[in-house]
Amino acid sequence: MSKRSGPLAPGVAFITGGARGLGNAVACSFAKEGARAVVIADIQDEKTFAQGKKNVEEIGCECLTIHCDVTKEDQVEAAVKQAVDKFGRIDYAANFAGIIGPSSSITETNTEEWLKCQAVNSTGVFLATKHELRQMMKQSSIDVEDGRVEQRGSIVNCASVNSLMAIPTASAYTTSKHACHGITKTAALEARSHGIRVNAVSPGFLLTPMIENGVVGGDMDLGMKLWEGFEKRQGRKAKFEEVGDVVVLLSLPRCSLVNGQNLFIDGGFTINEGFE
Ligand SMILES: NC(=O)c1ccc[n+]([C@@H]2O[C@H](COP(=O)([O-])OP(=O)(O)OC[C@H]3O[C@@H](n4cnc5c(N)ncnc54)[C@H](O)[C@@H]3O)[C@@H](O)[C@H]2O)c1
Repeated sequence: MSKRSGPLAPGVAFITGGARGLGNAVACSFAKEGARAVVIADIQDEKTFAQGKKNVEEIGCECLTIHCDVTKEDQVEAAVKQAVDKFGRIDYAANFAGIIGPSSSITETNTEEWLKCQAVNSTGVFLATKHELRQMMKQSSIDVEDGRVEQRGSIVNCASVNSLMAIPTASAYTTSKHACHGITKTAALEARSHGIRVNAVSPGFLLTPMIENGVVGGDMDLGMKLWEGFEKRQGRKAKFEEVGDVVVLLSLPRCSLVNGQNLFIDGGFTINEGFE
């Protein structure tokens, strides 16, 4: 391999929850860094899918969209197969499908809603990781620099500051994100002998549709007040691409010894004891 710097991420990226929000920012970051193709697996409506695909294609990257509910194993397996049938392999996976879940105290939380949140944020990450790993274990190494260990792929799961911290009325989300890190750590240990790395990222506070509908949407005044407090502690407002770009960097073979980590992308929120 030459020493010249080329595209950072020339392989094929597979992103769950990639039609909008942070998942779409990840898709665009992979496109920006030279991915051969980006696959978006999501349950969004046609219009949102079309916009998400357009965002990627405008950067000059081929984009395949697949309707896939991450809580349904047959759909996840089929989505991975469809991506591989078209592009031959999956080099980078980013599991970003997620929901906010119920906002209520534990004593008032509807159990069905609690379980639904675990199904998407926790089981969905497990199912995606399972089928992405099965594919990556079968494929040859990504192109790596001379002298570096071979790598068959990288998976980045989306956790949250709630994988470390808790807030009243968010038991379902907090539990699901702790589980996301648990799955990541276990997968990292199981996959490393195959030359595959599995990490998590924990974004801070970004005003995506999930947040607009879930947190701020309930009681607007209270929601916005809370949100401003979160952003203050984070230091400033954050841009979606600040999450997307980190996922690409974490996926690069140059991060070959980074495995099982949970990288906080939060401007210092989680190490800030104060509110300013
Ligand atoms: N926005 C934030 O501040 C923030 C902070 C930390 C973590 N996150 C995490 O980032 C990820 C992306 O969320 P977002 O904020 O961009 O919200 P979003 O609602 O804009 O995006 C989530 C995407 O996941 C998809 N999705 C939901 N259920 C699905 C299912 N069953 N199968 C397939 N796709 C499904 C949605 O259709 C949507 O496109 C989530 O995992 C979320 O928990 C967000």
